[in-house]
Amino acid sequence: MPDSSHRTTTHEEAADIVASNPFVGNRLGFDGHPAVVEAVIVGRVVRVSFADGTTREFHHQWLRHSCYCQDCGNAADGIRFVTAISFESSIAPKTVGAAAGDLIVTWPDKHKSTYGPDWLLHHAYDAPDRARRSAWRPTLWKSNLSDHFPTVSVEEASDGGAGLLRLYHMLRDYGIVRVTGLRDGLDETERLASFVGPINETTVFGRIYDVRAEPVAKLGAKTGMAQAPHIDDAFYYAPPGIDVFHCLANTEVGGLSTYVDGFAIAEDIRITSPHAFELLTTLPISQIRWHPGEVDVRARGPLISIDEFGRPSGIRYFDRALAPLDVDPVFVEPLYDAIREFNQRMIDDEFLTQIRIAPGDGVLMDNHRVLHGRTAFDPNQGRHVRLCQVTRDEFHARLRELSRRLDPANHDIHLPSGSRA
Ligand SMILES: [Fe+2]
Ligand SMILES: [Zn+2]
Repeated sequence: MPDSSHRTTTHEEAADIVASNPFVGNRLGFDGHPAVVEAVIVGRVVRVSFADGTTREFHHQWLRHSCYCQDCGNAADGIRFVTAISFESSIAPKTVGAAAGDLIVTWPDKHKSTYGPDWLLHHAYDAPDRARRSAWRPTLWKSNLSDHFPTVSVEEASDGGAGLLRLYHMLRDYGIVRVTGLRDGLDETERLASFVGPINETTVFGRIYDVRAEPVAKLGAKTGMAQAPHIDDAFYYAPPGIDVFHCLANTEVGGLSTYVDGFAIAEDIRITSPHAFELLTTLPISQIRWHPGEVDVRARGPLISIDEFGRPSGIRYFDRALAPLDVDPVFVEPLYDAIREFNQRMIDDEFLTQIRIAPGDGVLMDNHRVLHGRTAFDPNQGRHVRLCQVTRDEFHARLRELSRRLDPANHDIHLPSGSRA
């Protein structure tokens, strides 16, 4: 491509731009990290020694690419003048050293980079550092979760600090948390959602959705029939992330809320039925929703998504929305068997927990992990739950940002990124 306008039309240089983010360079602003005391070049890496006696190694290219000085810019706001093609693979420092606890690197073109120890240690990629960032594990649960259901009050969650972080940690670790003490206005539903992020609108649900029996039911939720546990809208490429339920009225009989930990089921299948686990993590299933004249929604992806470490990162299964299988004929019967392994556990008393949510209760639930349903109820009894959704990205983004302030050691741990299409 002869056009080089991407180089010549730039009229703003680093020095001309006023960024909204304050300049921080290669620092996180955390206390208590051991100072850099020495640095030496060893082949293709810089070996950095810290005051606690440990060392880390960083590749030359990695250090040059990661310079967040005012000329290079910062990946955090994308006002960035260095990318992976800004330097040759052969780049190497001219000098390396320690000064005032920082790592200082000078480059052949006289560019100077300064890296604080907190930034270096949080980004180091030696095995123990990578293990620390990947150390989070879900708290798997079964039917007895109802005995100690994760719960915070709305007052606690509204503190914007430790109480909100407690809510976030429950939602992160259990995939579900109950919030008590809500009033019943629409603004209270919005308040509940706003703990985790902005409300996400879809054609199927709209923005805020009333779950109650209606004379003409557009979908199963708007009847009094029992609903087996399911992932909401598993037919979207990115299904709703955090389901936000706000209970306005419940019945005395039936209408119990049912929940299942999809990650606990996945781990059980991995151990007891490894062949099924293999099929459920590698073969796609299709799930669909059609409202004539409006939308024809389809998503194809594995029932269990796994991450780079082989751990479940998302569940995608809505039993009633499962489309005819479309896989190589040799897999049709084994895949049905594998789906049954999941589906049977999903309705099994061992895995299924039940609670009666009361008016004023809210539930925030990770819809890429926890399946939810309800027992049947009399459609004339006025059960009414208001529902909206927030993406998981927004929740995790807020969790990390609050953690920077209150739990900095863990602000950068890897969290499951959800089910893939
Ligand atoms: Fe649902
Ligand atoms: Zn720089």
